[in-house]
Amino acid sequence: RPRVLSGIQPTAGSFHLGNYLGAVRQWVALQQTHDAFYMVVDLHAITVPQDPKELRANTRLAAAQLLAAGLDPDRCTLFVQSHVPEHAQLGWVMNCLTGFGEASRMTQFKDKSSKQGTDSTTVGLFTYPILQVADILLYQANAVPVGEDQRQHLELTRDLANRFNTRYAPTFTVPDPYIVKETAKIVDLQEPTIKMSKSASSPKGIVNLLDEPKASAKKIKSAVTDADTVIRFDEKEKPGVSNLLTIYCALTGTGITELEQAYEGKGYGALKTDLAERFVEWVTPFRERTHEYLGDPETLDAVLAKGAQKARAVAAETLAAAYENIGLLPAK
Ligand code: TYM
Repeated sequence: RPRVLSGIQPTAGSFHLGNYLGAVRQWVALQQTHDAFYMVVDLHAITVPQDPKELRANTRLAAAQLLAAGLDPDRCTLFVQSHVPEHAQLGWVMNCLTGFGEASRMTQFKDKSSKQGTDSTTVGLFTYPILQVADILLYQANAVPVGEDQRQHLELTRDLANRFNTRYAPTFTVPDPYIVKETAKIVDLQEPTIKMSKSASSPKGIVNLLDEPKASAKKIKSAVTDADTVIRFDEKEKPGVSNLLTIYCALTGTGITELEQAYEGKGYGALKTDLAERFVEWVTPFRERTHEYLGDPETLDAVLAKGAQKARAVAAETLAAAYENIGLLPAK
């Protein structure tokens, strides 16, 4: 079976609809056809300040949400990044292979650091994409299911894999991005030109999966559309309406054309009300399952322990090969 790997940050509160539709939904599907490794990237989270207690709680919360979304520990390997020390170890190796200018061109870093100013921006945030490279290469992943915002990091991953393989010896599989075009960029409900995101969206623009469903329904119903009333998919001219259609299709499996036809002559209000209803139907059991997993931390921790063990076996083998090919003296 081909292998996939992906990761998600343990954010405070909950995942948002963009995380789910852009990435996690694909993770669930891919565990049927691929040898799948999925992780909660706590080492990536500490590139910005974190409260220790909250970080621990958010890491469990992330794992609980992934299980609630449909990851099955019997079909995939679910683990926490810091439980597998090889990530930090290969991360260092990749740091030594990356050009400073190359790292400086990462747009996510530029966006994030420009908001913070250089004194509160850590070097960890700067090298964040390089740790991500190590995450992926350790597992010899063939494909990496992510949203559009991760594309540049995957290009860096491919570049560094090729560079290492050429400079030393064939060691790493060069992975392909797995980006589902339709849902690769879910946009902000209030500002449909920017992506839905924890850091950039206003509270009304972002749908958090664990919020009170009624509150999320209200946000969907007050999403920004446009002055015209025609329900048509057109990302350039009608980004707000197109986003709602995308979300509707993804949650229900209905095609865009089918939806456009069904809503012909009806106003935006009808579309929004129906979408809000569909969302509540989907999210209600998701929230319940998340709370069930959270209510049983022993089982949750056992799943993560087993996942870490399986992940380490793979990661250790790759790291050993990389160390050897670089010429690091093996410990006797
Ligand atoms: P993170 O935690 O920011 O996001 C997790 C996943 O959600 C996707 N995503 C979106 N997709 C569509 N529309 C949106 N508005 C939206 N917002 C977020 C992201 O593209 C991502 O797939 N660097 C990664 C975590 C990471 C990783 C890895 C991923 C660390 N190591 C190795 C893959 C492989 C990140 O911060 O994702």
